[in-house]
Amino acid sequence: MKVTVIGAGAVGATCADNIARASLCEELVLLDIKEGFAEGKAIDMMQTAALLGFETRITGTTGDYSKTAGSSVVLITSGIPRKPGMTREELIGINAGIVKGVTENILKYSPDAIIIIISNPMDTMTYLALTSSGLPKNRVIGMGGILDSSRFRYYLSQAIPASPNELQATVIGGHGDTTMIPLTRLATYQGTPVSNYVAADVLKKVAADTMVGGATLTGLLGTSAWYAPGASGADLVKAIVRDEKRLLPCCVYLDGEYGQKDICLGVPVIIGKNGWEKIVDYHLNDEEKALFAKSADAVRNMNSVLKTL
Ligand code: APR
Repeated sequence: MKVTVIGAGAVGATCADNIARASLCEELVLLDIKEGFAEGKAIDMMQTAALLGFETRITGTTGDYSKTAGSSVVLITSGIPRKPGMTREELIGINAGIVKGVTENILKYSPDAIIIIISNPMDTMTYLALTSSGLPKNRVIGMGGILDSSRFRYYLSQAIPASPNELQATVIGGHGDTTMIPLTRLATYQGTPVSNYVAADVLKKVAADTMVGGATLTGLLGTSAWYAPGASGADLVKAIVRDEKRLLPCCVYLDGEYGQKDICLGVPVIIGKNGWEKIVDYHLNDEEKALFAKSADAVRNMNSVLKTL
């Protein structure tokens, strides 16, 4: 089994590190456009193999896609963050060019790959990768919901307090600060509603903190986060390569499900060796359905920028 990570920056390298530590594949290729960068990260990581005991062989390449040939799964983390003074449209334009070009190159050498999108704005980049490549919809997956749900579980664990591992909590909708929907009503602590343990106003704050979880870290770090995004990307790879049939919130193409069409948005899906295999209906209440429709409107508005490029 071979996995490729495009972009050897903070998120891509952390994905690769987590994938290797769990020996999820025999071969792992890191690709970046910055000369020598992916090679350097790959060698550094390989020099931990004797210490950590993993069996994955990691190699790096500067832009040579032939090295990625025959990959089963490819994660796209390449892109640039929004810089001061840059409009949202400009950011979408630059990252769209990168994601579209990368997807084309990957498919030349790995026509059967499952593509995972991490680059932001993730919902729009997932839609772009799917529509520009013409791939079957089950083979293009945006990762954001796994990360957002893990952040939701963290904030809940602080509020209860409890171990994050004993909490089940899902974020659906878009991956943006204002478009994601932490499903507080359905969150549980060992199978019991979290509302048994946390007051309604505190739960509201947990949801609000979750929604700005990424921005909070950018404020603290001066750049966007990488440990949780990297671990989330690796978790999705694990579910695919081990054919786990896990129920995970991912950004996928909707064709009428959750009342939406022609859009990629976060919903609970079964993940296995074929990519996303089935969308699961969580039977949202009216309030949640309204939030989902609003989230879809905002993401659709962002997707419309793609038509102007
Ligand atoms: N092909 C390959 N690599 C590229 C390309 C390209 N066309 N364009 C940029 N890159 C590489 C850069 O050289 C850089 O090493 O992508 C890497 C991005 O790494 P960082 O700048 O460290 O960004 P990172 O924090 O990893 O975030 C990557 O993930 O979570 C999202 O919002 C985040 O969109 C961003 C992405």
